[in-house]
Amino acid sequence: MFGAPLLIALPWFIHAQNNHIPIKNHREPQPHFAALCVLEYRPVMTKSEPEVFYTDPRLAQVYDSLNPWAADQQFYTDLAGQSPKRILDMGCGTGLLAVELARRGHTVIGADPAEAMLDIARNRPDGDRVTWILSDAAGLTLPDLVDLIVMSGHAFQVFLTDMEIEAALNTYFKLLSPNGTLSFETRNPAFESWRTWIPEKSFEEIIVEGVGAVAVHNDIVEGSRNRVAYETHFTFPDGQKHVGIGHLRYLEVDEVMEHLHKAGFSQVALYGDWDGNPVADNRPEIIAVAQKS
Ligand SMILES: C[S@@+](CC[C@H](N)C(=O)[O-])C[C@H]1O[C@@H](n2cnc3c(N)ncnc32)[C@H](O)[C@@H]1O
Repeated sequence: MFGAPLLIALPWFIHAQNNHIPIKNHREPQPHFAALCVLEYRPVMTKSEPEVFYTDPRLAQVYDSLNPWAADQQFYTDLAGQSPKRILDMGCGTGLLAVELARRGHTVIGADPAEAMLDIARNRPDGDRVTWILSDAAGLTLPDLVDLIVMSGHAFQVFLTDMEIEAALNTYFKLLSPNGTLSFETRNPAFESWRTWIPEKSFEEIIVEGVGAVAVHNDIVEGSRNRVAYETHFTFPDGQKHVGIGHLRYLEVDEVMEHLHKAGFSQVALYGDWDGNPVADNRPEIIAVAQKS
């Protein structure tokens, strides 16, 4: 009964024994773990549905105020270049990047499995310039190949298992034209960005159009080098409080390269920040730009 989930959970659990950094709500492992590891199966570390931040319309409407245009979106826009291309923005969320790419003359498809995010995307100014598709990465099919696939906003970190990563990358490889490019970023585990996701360091009050002032802060539930579970707390002007829990995988550089090569991507460039510097422990990102051939 526990066979399949246990196989998925076991590598995570063994890793957690070595690297686990308990912060909150940590359940101590059973001392006789080898015999009883079924008890430590953590269903939270595999998932098929997008997190509640993206599926609950009330929380989705906060997304743009929390995540305005920044260097990451500029990087992908520059990567797309001037000549018109067919671009897939996978995990497009509220469509900020997809719409900007369309405004610049590209033919853009924005795909995301969260209807609440796509609703915002469709209704943003110039949203009708983009073709929006409700789909996750693994299941997406398109009538025509694309020249560029981007996955921004650290969306790649929603893939928690090797199986999910492989399924997504295999789909991307199939959807790309022969000289196509895939680009995404994942946070550098060595940089430990999640350590600041605590109430004292993350609290902010943001103004959401049509809603008012929303107080937001993060809290870490479990943090280790390669897996992080965190909460985001929202307090709306009417006093309503919502808490969403998110799970992220932090891939090592070697893992990023191995997965890309396994999927068939031959040339891969990696950057450690949005200025194009090399990956290093003191740089926050692992930004991949991979060529199909
Ligand atoms: C942090 S948001 C990033 C949104 C946007 N790309 C940006 O740069 O702001 C992560 C997005 O990934 C989407 N997502 C979740 N699971 C996914 C999956 N399996 N395949 C593709 N996208 C997924 C979520 O619905 C959400 O919109």
